[in-house]
Amino acid sequence: MSIRRLPEHLVNRIAAGEVVERPASALKELIENAIDAGSSRIEVRLASGGIDLIEVLDDGCGMSVADMALALERHATSKLPDDAIDKVATMGFRGEALPSIASVARFTLESRVRGGDGWRRIVDNGQVVEEGPAALPPGTRVRVDALFAKVPARRKFLRSPRSEYAAALDVVKRLAMARPDIGFALEHDGRRAVSVPPGQSRPERVAALTDRDLAENSITVDLSREGYVLGGVAGIPTFNRGVADHQYLFVNGRPVKDRLLIGAVRGAYADFLARDRHPVVALFLDLPPSEVDVNVHPAKTEVRFRDPALVRGMIVSGLRRALNEAGHRSAQPVATDALGLWQREAVDGTAPMPAAIPENLRLWAAPSFSDRRSNFTPPPMARAEPAHAPLPETISHPLGVARGQVAKTYIVAEAEDGLVIVDQHAAHERLVLERMRRALEGGTVAAQALLLPEVVELDEPGCDRLEARAGELAELGLDIERFGPNAVLVRATPALLGSGDVKGLVCDLADELAAFDQALSLKEKLDAVAGTMACHGSVRAGRVLSVAEMNALLREMEVTPHSGQCNHGRPTWIKLAHGDIEKLFGRK
Ligand SMILES: Nc1ncnc2c1ncn2[C@@H]1O[C@H](COP(=O)(O)OP(=O)(O)OP(=O)(O)O)[C@@H](O)[C@H]1O
Ligand SMILES: [Mg+2]
Repeated sequence: MSIRRLPEHLVNRIAAGEVVERPASALKELIENAIDAGSSRIEVRLASGGIDLIEVLDDGCGMSVADMALALERHATSKLPDDAIDKVATMGFRGEALPSIASVARFTLESRVRGGDGWRRIVDNGQVVEEGPAALPPGTRVRVDALFAKVPARRKFLRSPRSEYAAALDVVKRLAMARPDIGFALEHDGRRAVSVPPGQSRPERVAALTDRDLAENSITVDLSREGYVLGGVAGIPTFNRGVADHQYLFVNGRPVKDRLLIGAVRGAYADFLARDRHPVVALFLDLPPSEVDVNVHPAKTEVRFRDPALVRGMIVSGLRRALNEAGHRSAQPVATDALGLWQREAVDGTAPMPAAIPENLRLWAAPSFSDRRSNFTPPPMARAEPAHAPLPETISHPLGVARGQVAKTYIVAEAEDGLVIVDQHAAHERLVLERMRRALEGGTVAAQALLLPEVVELDEPGCDRLEARAGELAELGLDIERFGPNAVLVRATPALLGSGDVKGLVCDLADELAAFDQALSLKEKLDAVAGTMACHGSVRAGRVLSVAEMNALLREMEVTPHSGQCNHGRPTWIKLAHGDIEKLFGRK
């Protein structure tokens, strides 16, 4: 086999494979170019999620006729005038985006510099097909028609227009958040979806583009260290979501989805949130360009830091400090610390206790509690509250009889052979799932009409997803109707949930649906859906239960299959056997 140099159009198409994965990625490149051109307003129009049309109009510096030809050549860029790739301050620098997009679509570039005339150049899947004067205001307009129409191998990987639109909207939001000084507008299939004016402050812009309740439920983050500056807002722990999509992270004005940063955010919230919940944050890290390499990912969404430990430390301490200052600590120190302290107090001045107590957690666990100690959700320390009712005499049930409730979260019960602690929320979640399964076997889940239908506002892709699944949700007892572009109307909720937090439920379901394969029915994902529903049902952590309610829960657990673990695999109850208690007190 002889080696040959690939022709230009093939090289571009190969590069397009990396840079242009879907409409949203092409859109990202075009908006970034408009930002680099110094624009003050950027307008985007999309049709069918960008599959049929992407148009980006800006009022930036424009290009001369000669530059327009160069711009469509590979490795031609105006952004690295002095070869200093380690100091790039622009969004782009590779000179790859335009030729790549133009090789897989019909591409129209129109541009005009101030004081000059407009010019148009049309490239159809890599071939220049038309060129000539054009009428437009100073700036640039790019049109991408029929992306991948002639590249069936790529086209078949496109998702529905609705999903492609959701990805494109996310791109616009993130870039608009990165640059509050620039005005942005987005129109999809003739409807305006985003409109933010130029000259906003960062908090104004974040508020305009995220959940409208975030402003009230967040704390300002502000920390500088060694030339690094971290700013933004952090949602309070109770304002959490079921997916991590609501985390907006920026490095030197560039939206990133960087693992180090995501991990640091997770770490900062670890003590405050359950493992399957995610905080809402918008964090902006600014550092000297020489401290970060942005040239590690074709779409530039990942970066490499020269001092990762410093970055991680800043995020963790910036967030922790904000969370602490605001007094929003929702949980106490982690289990191991708490147990360690208690242990020391107990043996003050005497022989050391037997091997670390967390080790014993294993002994206490319900049978299904496999080795998950490191992920064990910390139990808040609190005093036990007495049960306000005469105590039943018999304790011969496997889970015993309720003796009280701790931290409004745990039921403490006495069984014949030891002490049982039940996580009321986890247990309830599991019971709901099992009840739902049983109800579905016999048809549909009964719905309970709300006295007043509730309007829940959420973003458009979220509403789209719920609407598309409305029929299936109705079978599960949740009656939802579209209510304008950014809201749904909830008429009924599953009766077996009792009255709960409707808004939280609907928002979480919308998040959850984004993660589901469209081919799967909700019944096939019943664990997840029921878990989400139960999460917002009546028995939440934090609710005071009567002794009768507690005992009812224990009895139902005993007769429900799989009730020993919650829907996320954590135990719903643990038992401290009499022998274990004796060991703890050194009696054995
Ligand atoms: N909207 C625009 N306004 C003015 N000039 C533009 C615009 N879009 C592109 N250009 C010019 O065309 C050149 C090529 O753009 P292209 O996106 O292909 O590469 P880049 O932005 O330099 O690097 P990257 O591939 O990393 O995006 C740019 O360097 C810029 O000079
Ligand atoms: Mg570019």
